Amino acid sequence: MSAFVDIAGLKVTIPTPQGPLTPVRGLDLQVVKGETLAIVGESGCGKSLTALALIGLVPPPCRVSAERLSFDGQSLLGLGAAAWRTLRGPRIAMIFQDPMTSLDPCYTIGSQLVEVMRTHRRISETAARQRAIDLLTRVGVPSPAARLGQYPHQLSGGLRQRVMIAMALSCEPDLIIADEPTTALDVTTQAQVLGLLAQLQDETGVAIILITHDLGVVASVAHRMAVMYAGQVVETGPTAAVLARPSHPYTEGLLRAIPTPGLTARGAPLGTIPGIVPPPTAATDGCLFLARCPYARPACAAGPIPLAPLAPGHAQRCIRPLAERAGEPGYAALVGADG
Ligand SMILES: Nc1ncnc2c1ncn2[C@@H]1O[C@H](COP(=O)(O)OP(=O)(O)OP(=O)(O)O)[C@@H](O)[C@H]1O
Ligand SMILES: [Mg+2]
Repeated sequence: MSAFVDIAGLKVTIPTPQGPLTPVRGLDLQVVKGETLAIVGESGCGKSLTALALIGLVPPPCRVSAERLSFDGQSLLGLGAAAWRTLRGPRIAMIFQDPMTSLDPCYTIGSQLVEVMRTHRRISETAARQRAIDLLTRVGVPSPAARLGQYPHQLSGGLRQRVMIAMALSCEPDLIIADEPTTALDVTTQAQVLGLLAQLQDETGVAIILITHDLGVVASVAHRMAVMYAGQVVETGPTAAVLARPSHPYTEGLLRAIPTPGLTARGAPLGTIPGIVPPPTAATDGCLFLARCPYARPACAAGPIPLAPLAPGHAQRCIRPLAERAGEPGYAALVGADG
């Protein structure tokens, strides 16, 4: 049985006068129905472009290609505008980091919610308004009937984000892609919004792809996680397993660099990952983390390096664990010297 969301070899290419850039270069990812998958990775590694590819909103002149890019058994490659309209909203919804980029400042909350519902469903204006009130109540917006007449600028950031979630839920999607939905919010509101998404998932079984920089958030809400580096997934697995036993050197570095409640000892120094991410023009042969990797050795330059299984559901893109498993002495010595 194929995964609910099944991505293999996804590439996003941007033509430029200096030659093509490939910010997403061979991304593999699966999402199961009803789960929350978190995507983490440093700024510019292609998280948002991946999300946009899944909802058909990669901006021109960027080009999307893939071996597989499918949702609920349907290929999303080469879909026309009409086909996207039947998916975007009713089946796949997106929550953006900044609600002001998706809410129209010129229209009231009510008219925007009603319009989304009436675009996708046969529903009367009155019924849509009632449903808008129900949805706002459900996402914890106080005085929902009065809010319908307000404009986005009259709401706080937390309330606007709740309105975005209500809008995403309004057509009962099967997949919500939330791209840093809480980054602009204070910690208390952030916890409320994430709690709300988890509760809605329990009630409706919606699958959620959550893009975030916050490993504390990942640890608390995601069933599985994918770590992206330079446009590829370098490690993926059950959240608890990846956080407890990171296998890829980038994941290891990332966990050392970010204080994570319950994982980082109080007072322990935080690590850094020396070097920079290779530009999206760099050749994809060999490991993309090579120049920054403390375990690097010549074999790492002979690519491409596949995402290889470590344990059930846990895979990573580094030759070290496989070489270790094969009893190669060079790697054992390197690992020993590090620890
Ligand atoms: N429309 C575009 N035109 C040119 N380059 C783009 C465009 N959109 C994204 N990029 C580039 O592609 C790369 C990946 O961008 P993306 O927005 O997916 O990163 P991200 O992982 O979401 O980063 P962040 O964590 O900062 O949101 C970046 O280097 C970005 O500058
Ligand atoms: Mg982004």
